[in-house]
Amino acid sequence: MSSFRYRPEILEGVADHIDCDLKEYEDWFTLEPSQLKEITDHFIKELERGLTVEGGNIPMNITWVMSYPTGHEQGRILTIDMGGTNLRVCDIHLSSTKRDSDQIQKKYELPKPIKAGTADELWDWVADRVQDFLNDHDSGGQKDRQLPLAFTFSFPVDQKSISSGVLQHWTKSFNVSGAEGEDIVAQLEAAINRKKVPVKIVALINDTTGTLIASNYGDPHVKVGCVFSTGCNAAYMEECRLIPKLKHLNLPEDAQVIINTEYGAFDNDSVILPLTPWDHQIDRESLRPGTQRFEKMVAGLYVGEMLRLIMVTLHEENKLFKGQDITRLRSENALDATFLSIAELDISEDLEDMRYEFESSLSLSPVLIELKVCRYLIGLIATRAARLYACGIAAICKKKGIKKCHVGVDGSVFNKYSGFKQRAAQGLRDIFDWPSHELDLIVLNPSEDGSSLGAALAASLVLNRETKEHPSQVMED
Ligand code: BGC
Repeated sequence: MSSFRYRPEILEGVADHIDCDLKEYEDWFTLEPSQLKEITDHFIKELERGLTVEGGNIPMNITWVMSYPTGHEQGRILTIDMGGTNLRVCDIHLSSTKRDSDQIQKKYELPKPIKAGTADELWDWVADRVQDFLNDHDSGGQKDRQLPLAFTFSFPVDQKSISSGVLQHWTKSFNVSGAEGEDIVAQLEAAINRKKVPVKIVALINDTTGTLIASNYGDPHVKVGCVFSTGCNAAYMEECRLIPKLKHLNLPEDAQVIINTEYGAFDNDSVILPLTPWDHQIDRESLRPGTQRFEKMVAGLYVGEMLRLIMVTLHEENKLFKGQDITRLRSENALDATFLSIAELDISEDLEDMRYEFESSLSLSPVLIELKVCRYLIGLIATRAARLYACGIAAICKKKGIKKCHVGVDGSVFNKYSGFKQRAAQGLRDIFDWPSHELDLIVLNPSEDGSSLGAALAASLVLNRETKEHPSQVMED
């Protein structure tokens, strides 16, 4: 059995007790090194297509962040980071001492009705949280001036400048009306003005762009910034002369710009990804079928759903949870990535922690053999996700001719799901064929909460530019 196969020893004895051919699932979910290489090569073609005027599946959005931080940025910036689950507000002080910062932050969970309401309701809610944060943490002195605000927005936007951006479409489980096709900075600014919150938006960036900037600030070997959480995506620095869709701007020959790839949309036309019946089902039943096909196989929002659908299939085939009431298991999104992570962390003989999760989350009482089967399925699903995720990073590095670098990765799945990093690293090894005696050449490093710091650094780059252009309009720090 080659090294990339997921631990078959977990299944010892299972076949004697349960009529369930897991080989079929192993075949669906196992990705051989040769498949990873093919997927990576197709990925490179799609990254390149996204840079052309005609475009392709992957948007390759221009961020207008045209340099890495120098390490000497300074000043006070407020940041808001709107991800799939939370809004994080931070007050960041960049110190002129090289590569140093200080921050106070607060997380607010995005209420479900807000994620499915109207744009005005969403932006009013965000503006209120910024005001709450200032009430709690701003000890005064700000009343008569506006603080610069950097906005990290974890969705695809088409940007004509660093301080504006039209939402292309919602991803993850967002379904707010009246925002798609609109400049979301203008919308948030209108709410900020309605509520008289003393801030001024100076930069809009994606979470991957923020992660790249913040990781590179701490470690200049970082060349790719990734997020692996509810959604998945990556950003990297591209030379403008290699971006056909920017050709008409006649930018200087040596100009470069960070590209927010939005590679969750890879292979939306289903040419290369090894889609299983459950991948098709997840897509069909999602809010936007046909979009984010790669993300739907890889990201945290979907791995729990994948497990749930397979368990329902096995139950209907009379192979799992015989005679049990699976009502809770039938409910959409009943499981999240944490459920899978807890199961994989349970190395006890009787899988007690895992059993507890089944009882509390699903009201099911599986026997030990059933728990072993589910644990095996979880391993297959999570290993496939990590190995596919490696293809996106490999594609960026191969496209840029990067043989050796660090990759900054933010996101709860990467940072909290035990074993994910090792599986993704093995995926990179299988793609690049590094000799076994060599250490990894492309190294995945955690960058927890990096995107807010990255946003502050991007804002500071903008403010410095403005200060040079209009010395009289300096915002205080
Ligand atoms: C969004 C990206 C984001 C990623 C990670 C995706 O669903 O489209 O903009 O970077 O999730 O948060």
